[in-house]
Amino acid sequence: MNESPKTSVEMRDVCLAFDEKEVLTGVSLTVPTLSRLVVLGQSGSGKSTLLRLILGLLKPTRGEITFNGLKVTRMGRLRLNRMRRKIGMVYQYSALISSLSVRDNLALPLEELTTKSREEIDHLVDEKLKLVGMADARDKMPAELSGGMRKRIGLARGIIMDPELILYDEPTAGLDPVISAVIDELIISLSEKIGATSIIVTHEMGSAFKVATHMAMLYKGKIIASDSPEAFKASTDPVVAQFIAGDTQGPILNATPS
Ligand SMILES: Nc1ncnc2c1ncn2[C@@H]1O[C@H](COP(=O)(O)OP(=O)(O)OP(=O)(O)O)[C@@H](O)[C@H]1O
Ligand SMILES: [Mg+2]
Repeated sequence: MNESPKTSVEMRDVCLAFDEKEVLTGVSLTVPTLSRLVVLGQSGSGKSTLLRLILGLLKPTRGEITFNGLKVTRMGRLRLNRMRRKIGMVYQYSALISSLSVRDNLALPLEELTTKSREEIDHLVDEKLKLVGMADARDKMPAELSGGMRKRIGLARGIIMDPELILYDEPTAGLDPVISAVIDELIISLSEKIGATSIIVTHEMGSAFKVATHMAMLYKGKIIASDSPEAFKASTDPVVAQFIAGDTQGPILNATPS
């Protein structure tokens, strides 16, 4: 029954500049279907930008990006919208709409993008809330929730359309260790339960090694390493080793862009 291509996302020599500032200078990356790829990189290295490029929210100045073999970089608005239904995005700050209840926040994409009935939508909302252990929060407003709870709701919203690909931007940043561990386990179980490929941007090493099946390091606008977590742990590349160890000594700080 598995008809999806072996590669979920492929980036080939992707460059992106904002005005004069070159953020990505030739990113090449292959994301195998059903993998959980963790992208490591310093603050400001372009990790969120990478996710926005995959969603087609930004166009690269050069290079090509494909999703399921289709060229994102060549898609018009209609095809982009169709593609985005298959991609769930979990934002760093949850990005819930504060004037809507948890139920309505989750229902929104289903109401806008599908013809499902209210009953069907309610059923899907409940199902996803249960998956993230937040069934009781259904009728709450975002302001009534803690940061960790909001994050879990953001996660439930990210998977409401049963996406084939889930993009996580710093899913555990700023959370206590226990909630972080809960989120890590959710990332793993969701990818297995709904059969999704995951790309996770993080600089929390504990989380990274727990969830990753594959790892990549973004540095100075390029992917300088892409390998298994075991290979990353044993890496002798000075940049990778310094980043993983969180050392102050090494090439990274010396090379911080101006
Ligand atoms: N819309 C934009 N216009 C101009 N510059 C931008 C824009 N978005 C991002 N940048 C710049 O691109 C660079 C990369 O930003 P990005 O948000 O992708 O970094 P990041 O790796 O996600 O960082 P962090 O870990 O802090 O979230 C930064 O220097 C940022 O200032
Ligand atoms: Mg970011």
